[in-house]
Amino acid sequence: MADQRPRVWVSQPLFDDTVAQLAAYCDVVATDEVSAHDSAAIAAQLADVDGALVTLNDRIGAAEIAAASQLKVIANVGVGYNNLDVPVLSAAGIIATNTPDVLTETTADLGFSLLMAAARRIVESDRWLREGSWGQWSFTTMLGADLHGSTLGILGMGRIGQAIARRGHHGFGMKVLYHNRSRLPQDVEQAVGAGYVGFDELLSRVDHLVLVLPYTAQNHHIINAAALAKMKPTATLVNIARGGIVDELALADALVNGRLASAGLDVYENEPTVRPELLALRNVVLTPHIGSASLATRRAMVQVAVDNLLAGLGLGPDAGRPAN
Ligand code: DGY
Repeated sequence: MADQRPRVWVSQPLFDDTVAQLAAYCDVVATDEVSAHDSAAIAAQLADVDGALVTLNDRIGAAEIAAASQLKVIANVGVGYNNLDVPVLSAAGIIATNTPDVLTETTADLGFSLLMAAARRIVESDRWLREGSWGQWSFTTMLGADLHGSTLGILGMGRIGQAIARRGHHGFGMKVLYHNRSRLPQDVEQAVGAGYVGFDELLSRVDHLVLVLPYTAQNHHIINAAALAKMKPTATLVNIARGGIVDELALADALVNGRLASAGLDVYENEPTVRPELLALRNVVLTPHIGSASLATRRAMVQVAVDNLLAGLGLGPDAGRPAN
């Protein structure tokens, strides 16, 4: 009798036990180096597998699944899934899954870290000190902006936005305003301590703005020169969502010309390339898309993705459970 075990592709090296977990149920083709596979390479890998465990490095749409006649499920290791063309996958009968919830608090921590680092000029101070520029203590060295008592804005009020609101409101005594496609129920607003406002009002009223919205064609460059012009020149902008939400050249221009005080960025439009205009600035803190990168959270994300992949194939300890 022919081998009935499904075949799955693991597109990036993850944790040592990931392949072993899948191998208990499937034949696994595992990539052993971190790579952004091009379209042809992805198409070739998907052509003869039943499932795939992929990351944001892997862009999968019509071209990549054209020859994937037996593909049933793509499990994305990540909550954001703008790397997947979900309507195309759905039309082809392919289940797409992501890893919400397990990374919420870790990503909110990073958002807050970037906010603190940028507003209080921590990275800039560190660099300045190491360069030997600290001659004498001075009253006016590295004056930054307060978080406590300030107004925090959140654009996108899903799980991570709410986790940031809680930190701001309950932890730092901030007034929290948010804008979202739809308004939260009143009890949720109260629990996280946030009030709903329109987009323009959010931009103009807040002292700090954190971007946490999903990236879609509609919000491409939603933070552009016109939006930045509405913000306070003393404000800090933090982006932990996706790079394409911000017009990076307009942001660099605002930061150079004193129309925005500082920024903290974890995501970029053309990762892993970061624009030289941003790299040149001292008033921006840059991290390499590490929002969910704590060991415990990355392990949890991989576990959810493995479980989703197996469930999508009708295998594993959770066989029969609906996939996310
Ligand atoms: C996500 O989960 O979408 C992050 O950006 C990658 O960890």
